[in-house]
Amino acid sequence: MNTRIISILDQRQVVGATVPALLETPTGMLADSLARPLHDLRISVTDRCNFRCVYCMPKEVFDKNYSFLPHASLLSFEEIARLASLFVAHGVEKIRLTGGEPLLRKHLERLIAMLRELRTPDGRELDLTLTTNGALLAQKAQALKDAGLNRVTVSLDALDDANFKRMNDVDFAVAQVLRGIEAAHQVGLGPIKINMVVKKGLNDHEVLSMARHFKDTPYILRFIEYMDVGSSNGWRMDEVVPSAEVIRRINAVLPLQPVDANYAGETAQRWRYVDGSGEIGVISSVTRAFCGDCSRARLSTEGKIYTCLFGTDGHDLRALLRDARSDAEISSAIALLWRQRGDRYSELRSAAKPTSSTQRKVEMSYIGG
Ligand code: GTP
Ligand code: 5AD
Ligand code: SF4
Ligand code: SF4
Repeated sequence: MNTRIISILDQRQVVGATVPALLETPTGMLADSLARPLHDLRISVTDRCNFRCVYCMPKEVFDKNYSFLPHASLLSFEEIARLASLFVAHGVEKIRLTGGEPLLRKHLERLIAMLRELRTPDGRELDLTLTTNGALLAQKAQALKDAGLNRVTVSLDALDDANFKRMNDVDFAVAQVLRGIEAAHQVGLGPIKINMVVKKGLNDHEVLSMARHFKDTPYILRFIEYMDVGSSNGWRMDEVVPSAEVIRRINAVLPLQPVDANYAGETAQRWRYVDGSGEIGVISSVTRAFCGDCSRARLSTEGKIYTCLFGTDGHDLRALLRDARSDAEISSAIALLWRQRGDRYSELRSAAKPTSSTQRKVEMSYIGG
């Protein structure tokens, strides 16, 4: 069994005795060492993807020789739902399914239906959502809705077909993603957010055309700063377009005003068009880190928990599941992990280069966005 999780379980008495009671929020829920609650669980259901976005799964690395996870190492839906219920008991209210591309996981609707049954300790339903590249959305939207999914977020980096194909690197056309977005809207999987990763020299010339396209629609377009996540995209600071620049460019033509956050720890800063024709967001992990309120835990496809998107090491919960540990034991392992958490990678990142580390950071396609 994974030594890290064993050592955590073995330390339980010691840690339990020394962890101060202040590591609870005012409502008595779990809090980490920086007083951040556990609110959001992001579950990666596959490490595979049908795209090869240049900033995420560059073809040179993710080629036919790349070792994706074998099927036996994936968590089953029953295992995922069991872990999710323990996280919900600790305060999680939002679950996001990610990948790779989550719609590649067979019978995903079955998992969604199982997660739909979960309730918060005070009896509320979860916010159940999913991030997809949209390729399979047109055909799957109705089944996702019927299974109980609340909403989807769709990644779309360009409107110009040639440019989009250069970015996804598998010759996938924009029109099919737009059809997926429309289908999701038709079946009521809203509010739908559109995520555009902006990389200088690649798609930043499309910022304004994307803004124009989604203005006056029900969709919320969000511009994401290109991040140094993973170890294979060759990230450079000079390829990041700061969100302030994105806002400046749009505001010069389509006037904007800031809007308050929906909730503490929201990744995006919100803006609305002054003429009332909709809302956009910017996600500024590089130029304006938002670790201070980060309440997100991430569960990998093979059952490891990461307490930061930029983690190098996960904690193996699958080993506990398959070692027939009780719910109480797994639940206390989760609590210990969260109480010990002190991650704030983006805040510590040097302005000019990724934080130096000898360890490989986990890939975005393995842990989800
Ligand atoms: P809502 O639930 O709709 O508010 O969505 P969200 O912003 O929580 O989730 P989404 O998956 O749409 O996140 C958008 C992007 O923000 C991701 O693809 C990542 O690029 C980035 N992001 C999300 N969470 C984190 C995080 O914890 N740290 C950092 N650095 N970036 C994050
Ligand atoms: N920087 C910022 N966002 C990224 N994503 C993937 N790789 C990166 C990166 N290097 C985003 C995708 C998608 C989500 C799954 O993660 O655009 O919206
Ligand atoms: Fe696939 Fe999303 Fe990564 Fe693109 S960003 S390669 S669609 S997981
Ligand atoms: Fe949270 Fe880590 Fe992202 Fe900071 S860098 S917001 S701690 S996931």
